[in-house]
Amino acid sequence: MKRFCRGHYGMVRRKNAGIKIAALGTAAALLLTGCGTGGSHDEKNKSLKIGISMYDQYDTFVSELVSYLQSYAKQKEKELGITITLELQNANNSQMVQNDQMDDFIEDGFDIACINLVDRTDASTIIDKAKSSDVPVIFFNRELVKEDLERWDKLYYVGADAFESGKMQGQILVEECKKNFSKIDKNGDGILQYVMLEGEAGHNDSMVRSMSVINEITDRGYMVKKLTDEIANWNRDQAANKMKQFIEQFGNDIEVVLANNDDMALGAVDALKASGIDSGSDKWPAVLGVDGTSVGLDAVENGELLGTVLNDAKGQAEGMLELAYSIANGTKLPKEFELLDGKYIRLPYKIITRDNLAEIRMELM
Ligand code: BGC
Repeated sequence: MKRFCRGHYGMVRRKNAGIKIAALGTAAALLLTGCGTGGSHDEKNKSLKIGISMYDQYDTFVSELVSYLQSYAKQKEKELGITITLELQNANNSQMVQNDQMDDFIEDGFDIACINLVDRTDASTIIDKAKSSDVPVIFFNRELVKEDLERWDKLYYVGADAFESGKMQGQILVEECKKNFSKIDKNGDGILQYVMLEGEAGHNDSMVRSMSVINEITDRGYMVKKLTDEIANWNRDQAANKMKQFIEQFGNDIEVVLANNDDMALGAVDALKASGIDSGSDKWPAVLGVDGTSVGLDAVENGELLGTVLNDAKGQAEGMLELAYSIANGTKLPKEFELLDGKYIRLPYKIITRDNLAEIRMELM
């Protein structure tokens, strides 16, 4: 699995605040000169310029997604005989910076903007700019409200259905309970005592996952008791700090740790290890994440996580690039990507446990 490689980009200061990270398709440009054009595109269709703004380039999931996007762009350049320029910008958690980055994409003549919104409830400035300059936008990963997406016919969203991920996280726990209830229900009271680590307040994925995981466990007949929950903003260090406090407060009463993503699940693992609990011991709780990032998969492999749910970064990246190409060229999307309501591409989530880890790793290659 490829990792996001920061050293690959040049950092350029722009007139508008924020840092711009340029990742120009130079390798592709060389390729194009080397192989000729194949003659099937007119001049305008020989290049595709996509501006990408990440809400935070240090987010593990988002950086992996962008890394897949870069690999896929290289593959498509070869396949199509075109030059694909991906320009990456880090909004650094500021909606204002991201709005300015949209201006840059427009001024610099980009065909499409891919926006990983900082604030999913504050998309209007970007939408207004896109509309008035006729630059289509593919929003990704941080889902905006439907009403905003409907404000113009050249606005799209690529992501996944958050409800499914919570449900699958619940299914992993339920399947384990069916096989091994007494191992999970350490105090033998028939109730699963859990702590929850949530992503950002107001983020669609964290709200929906937190709700649907519990619904799934209880719908399948298991009783749960929430010991506590805290927001850890998708972040490993914040989650480790919260988990440290949970351990101080509840100690071995914690039977299950439900985290809205892998980084926070790994933060919990860090705190458990720091408190002297061995991941192979009876005291280790069932820890579950969502994403299937490369570090998440390693933790499933070594038994620190009971399981995780694949948030298909590879599929989402490929969907974004195919959609960008089809918008820019007026061509059809490949069959494997369905455009729901003319606006949404949603990739399915998948359960990941030790049992299917090898298969998932193959798919992600
Ligand atoms: C992912 C998280 C990520 C967040 C960022 C979620 O879908 O599961 O890992 O931090 O998106 O928006």
